[in-house]
Amino acid sequence: MTEDIKKRIFFLVKEIRRHQDLYYKKTQPEISDSEYDALFDELLELEKKYPELASSDSPTRRVGSDLDNEFPEVPHEVPMLSLDKVYRDDQLMEWIDKVGKGLFNDLSFVIEEKVDGSTIVLHYEDGILKRAVTRGNGLVGNDITENVRTIRDIPLRLAEPVTSVFRGEIYLNLSDFEALNKEVDNIYANPRNFAAGSLRRKKSSEVSKIPLRSFVYEGFFGDETMIEHLVVLHRLSQLGFHVGNDIGFFSSSTDNRYESIFQAHSEWVKGSFNDIGDYIHKKLSEREKLDYEIDGLVVKVGEYAERDRLGYTSHHPRWAMAYKFEAPQAISDILNIEVQVGRTGRITPVARIKPVRISGTTVSNVTLHNQDYITSLDVAVGDKVAVSRRGDVIPAVEEVLEKNSLGNKAFLLPDICPVCKSTLVQEGAHHFCTNRDCPARIYGRLSFFVARGQMDIENLGGETIRQLIDLGYVKDIPDIYYFNPDNLLGHEGFAEKKVALIKEGIEQSKKRPYSSVLSSLGFDEIGPRVVEILIDEGYTSIDMLLEAASKKDSEVFTRIQGIGPKIARRIIDQLNDRDNRELIHRLKEAGLNFSEEVSKKEIELAQTFSGEIWCVTGTFEHFKPRERAMDEVKRCGGRVTSSVTSKTTHLLVGKNPGSKEAKARQFGTNIVYEEEFLKRLEE
Ligand code: IVH
Repeated sequence: MTEDIKKRIFFLVKEIRRHQDLYYKKTQPEISDSEYDALFDELLELEKKYPELASSDSPTRRVGSDLDNEFPEVPHEVPMLSLDKVYRDDQLMEWIDKVGKGLFNDLSFVIEEKVDGSTIVLHYEDGILKRAVTRGNGLVGNDITENVRTIRDIPLRLAEPVTSVFRGEIYLNLSDFEALNKEVDNIYANPRNFAAGSLRRKKSSEVSKIPLRSFVYEGFFGDETMIEHLVVLHRLSQLGFHVGNDIGFFSSSTDNRYESIFQAHSEWVKGSFNDIGDYIHKKLSEREKLDYEIDGLVVKVGEYAERDRLGYTSHHPRWAMAYKFEAPQAISDILNIEVQVGRTGRITPVARIKPVRISGTTVSNVTLHNQDYITSLDVAVGDKVAVSRRGDVIPAVEEVLEKNSLGNKAFLLPDICPVCKSTLVQEGAHHFCTNRDCPARIYGRLSFFVARGQMDIENLGGETIRQLIDLGYVKDIPDIYYFNPDNLLGHEGFAEKKVALIKEGIEQSKKRPYSSVLSSLGFDEIGPRVVEILIDEGYTSIDMLLEAASKKDSEVFTRIQGIGPKIARRIIDQLNDRDNRELIHRLKEAGLNFSEEVSKKEIELAQTFSGEIWCVTGTFEHFKPRERAMDEVKRCGGRVTSSVTSKTTHLLVGKNPGSKEAKARQFGTNIVYEEEFLKRLEE
């Protein structure tokens, strides 16, 4: 019986895939829509009845589910960095020259579109989509697999059983965006926000109704033949991904080694370095013709060995550069200038302007940063100004086009805090309200603490925090854990259910890890990146950190890579501050996590492979995918690289190894087989 059902399911899956292919790719359907629906419904029905027979890449998975999704946090194996950027040709050419300096070998650059959407990381195991993760804060993202499964052009199964990680962008076509946004009263400013919002919908069945699209631009194969980006892009498209239509390849060599690739992709363009300028201008002039938004181009070094050589800063790879198109501008009037007080007390002047649309977004508030910025622009209320959206999202006043006729002079920041009236203090270019109890700062601190990406306290957002403060129940972060939510009952908007949810959210937040707690406190310069660095360095509890800070010696921290003198000083100042210590103490008493659960064993473990540089080739019995083996190396304190160089100390060799083994022998690298590796791990 089950055998028959199994067979039928297998048949239906195959048949539906074939018809999808005919319909979507070849646009030559063989059956009517209703015949197709009948097949689909039959499969749905069978899978519902026999869930154990439903495969994870069944075409029905695209339909999504009506169950509420959770988006658990997942750490990225490789941090998701940003891109360095330039706005002008000469800056780009300067970078290209710099990269090429000192190289004897041929060099190539691949130019891709910089599609303006939402970043996605796709994990495939044996060709099956297993996990899709958002960028998040670069270190930790959210698992949105169920939603991503509904996106038509992301393969649920690759053309080959590959185990790899891929990166790309999820976006929405302009025409789809305009139609869909109309249905929701045009509340979304641009397709990017719409796409990002859709991806986070709780029900994947709703996501499936949005025609999201994808564009995949990086793949991590760790395979000897995948040593140049153009080859990787071609491979990505062979596996079934949508890679950019417009790829430019510019090489210092004139040989025709990629002829077959260019034959397979007639739109891809090739040339020499001298052609790069023209290519960029052509792309810029054709930008308006595209049905999707690109905010620039990404110029990438083609050779992966060169990429390794160039390396990374903590912010971006040195082997890639975003060439951003001239920031779009609009003309508007300054209606008013207001002064805001942030959680750290920093004062920010914000211009309210007559609303204008700039590249798809309506802008009505523009930050003026600080007094220096205002003075340098000489901007006053009533002036006519040029406003731009540089660097994607932050609108800026570019220049004053026409002075106001009212005689208003350039705006001057007040001497006192507009909220608590205490005297402002200037530090560097910024002014600060140093009153810790300033209501604006209290609100800023609390709403930052509970926010998504921080403690992420469910059912306790900025709005509710505002009410709790107004009602007098909380005055500082720890009060969240000490006030009795039952007291809220009876106040408007706090029914029993809501109060129960708030309690639940607060309780749950006590389980958040130390790293989240520490970065949520909102201490200046102690954000997720610095927290991670400190923990990696062994400061795995707040007590260790407080102890180190109490020495008041900057060098204790500047010794750590990634921490400069400014950050070190801020850490020391803030961790020695009496109020901050009291705050930490109260939160600790309330039961929040103030240490990372790492056992002694883990610490010892992290030293066993220290100083070793490992490379991995072939397939393994105990480590599938082989990234698992790499994880072990890292867990034991070793480093992992994708290719064998003279610096590689160990090569882990599995079944069917590639050319890496020969290379390793040449260099005299230690060759380690699986059994031996397991033994070492056991030890
Ligand atoms: S490569 C290590 N290529 O731009 C960084 N990124 O600031 C590698 N993006 O949100 C990024 N198109 O998702 C790369 N062709 C492209 C891209 C691209 C869009 C996005 C990316 C990220 C941002 C990087």
